[in-house]
Amino acid sequence: MTRCHWLLVGACGWVLLLLMFASKFINFSLRVPDDYGGNVEKLRGTEPSVKSVTPQQPIPHTTFMSAASPPTLPSDWLSVVERRLELLSSVCSNSSLRNLTHTPVSKFVLDRIFVCDKHKILFCQTPKVGNTQWKKVLIVLNGKFSKVEDIPESIVHHHDKNGLPRLSSFKDKEINDRLNSYFKFIIVRDPFERIISAFKDKFVKNPRFEPWYKSNIAPAIIRKYRKSHRDEDGSGLEGSGLHFEDFVRYLGDEPGRRRLDRQFGEHVIHWLTYVELCAPCDIGYSVIGHHETLELDAPHILKSAGIEHLVSYPTIPPGITRYNRSKVEKYFSGISKRDVRRLYARFLGDFSLFGYQRPNFLLD
Ligand SMILES: *[C@@H]1O[C@H](CO)[C@@H](O)[C@H](O)[C@H]1NC(C)=O
Ligand SMILES: *[C@@H]1O[C@H](CO)[C@@H](O)[C@H](O)[C@H]1NC(C)=O
Ligand SMILES: *[C@@H]1O[C@H](CO)[C@@H](O)[C@H](O)[C@H]1NC(C)=O
Ligand SMILES: *[C@@H]1O[C@H](CO)[C@@H](O)[C@H](O)[C@H]1NC(C)=O
Repeated sequence: MTRCHWLLVGACGWVLLLLMFASKFINFSLRVPDDYGGNVEKLRGTEPSVKSVTPQQPIPHTTFMSAASPPTLPSDWLSVVERRLELLSSVCSNSSLRNLTHTPVSKFVLDRIFVCDKHKILFCQTPKVGNTQWKKVLIVLNGKFSKVEDIPESIVHHHDKNGLPRLSSFKDKEINDRLNSYFKFIIVRDPFERIISAFKDKFVKNPRFEPWYKSNIAPAIIRKYRKSHRDEDGSGLEGSGLHFEDFVRYLGDEPGRRRLDRQFGEHVIHWLTYVELCAPCDIGYSVIGHHETLELDAPHILKSAGIEHLVSYPTIPPGITRYNRSKVEKYFSGISKRDVRRLYARFLGDFSLFGYQRPNFLLD
């Protein structure tokens, strides 16, 4: 062994140590949201060109820095994203859908929008579309926590504590300046799958222990919408008494729902329309992401927002966020066409604006 060899070995050791040290600080990676259960099913084309996209090479599901190759976007992805915005703007200007597509940019909407001033980003939250992960990224970017993993679950949704302010907390002029100049994005998914997810999350599983859904909201909906009250004992049964059918009837009954929603307060954000939550026709979003193609949308959003060198989204197992028609069929089986059509009428704006196919198999 010459002295030269030893020097080389020593240098390698130092490089390794430095890399290990650096990796402690560079770990903004997102975990795949927990609620993406299930696997690939038949891909229903919400976008024709998505079908031709081949699944990406599996990349080890661990932390990776921007130096590692970011997922490559198919060359026509930009046109997919542009077509979404064109569709949105043409549906927004269709006067026969006006009531279903426009909403005032009220305090309620401004409450849904989160602000990252450091990187000039606004994100409108659409619950049940895997938004928690995006909020964590923005919290880290804002600097209150240095890693996504450091953010306690109890604080992700506490916006006076987590350094991710709501747009409503600013003054009028500050709000307008941000709306006019920041990068703005929103993530959507098939409206009926979102409703199923809300039902499961709040009335069946309730993993965050939010008792009011089962103890207040479910009984109020059952009282008004259950056809037969004989089987109401349901405690301990799936849905803690609330059946998906009751939920669908409540959502499709416009005047009755409005009255109930005034009692339910903010909790209704889990099943309000994207229009009511985020005013997509009245706020010019820069990018609309689709949950069904999140593995392409996530890197595109990071890139468009100019933060792809700071954060990355881990590989999502291909197909895991895709539309599952058999799940939708299962939940809607036995629900009358009349009730499904009313539900569809309520969500027609969301279906049309974001290019989701009418679920003919439920409606005709
Ligand atoms: C980085 O993130 C991964 C995935 O969340 C986690 O398992 C790992 O422990 C983190 N590494 C460091 C060094 O914090
Ligand atoms: C689709 O949903 C059905 C019913 O919930 C489930 O059994 C199936 O595993 C899901 N399929 C995929 C591919 O996720
Ligand atoms: C407007 O929307 C209605 C209802 O979906 C549709 O029938 C009509 O073709 C649309 N009009 C235009 C100009 O796109
Ligand atoms: C649209 O909304 C207005 C006010 O809420 C209502 O008077 C009108 O009938 C609605 N029009 C349609 C086509 O639903």
